[in-house]
Amino acid sequence: MSRDLFEAARAAMAKSHSPYSRFPVGAALRTEDGSIYAGANIEVASYPEGWCAETTALGHYVMGGGGRITEIAVVAEKMARITPCGGCRQRLAEFAAADTKLHLCDDTGIVETVTMGEMLPLGFSRETLK
Ligand code: THU
Repeated sequence: MSRDLFEAARAAMAKSHSPYSRFPVGAALRTEDGSIYAGANIEVASYPEGWCAETTALGHYVMGGGGRITEIAVVAEKMARITPCGGCRQRLAEFAAADTKLHLCDDTGIVETVTMGEMLPLGFSRETLK
């Protein structure tokens, strides 16, 4: 069921531009209408200017028209089970609900599934700004 999402994340990972860390990452998210938006990490010679796979995927998601996110997959070539960095947890939480499934993968498939709420408990949100 979620295998195709994992495969989209892994295919995106193959496009990673990570010559400095040599740590390719891929992310993919699915929306309610069945669309899949994927991305890889993109590094820059001026190191702080690079960005994460989740961020690339979110850019595609927003440009594709957005929509309710039903599940997310993240994969790293060199990790048994990657978890999104703190900044990406916040970026994902901007668009995904607390009960959205987040699949943590290795390069063979899904290792563990958690929710966004578990990944970013007590997060800062737009509610705080009201
Ligand atoms: N990276 C991601 O793409 N996503 C994460 O959630 C963690 C880290 C990337 C950033 C950088 O290109 C490389 O992994 C090493 O930190």
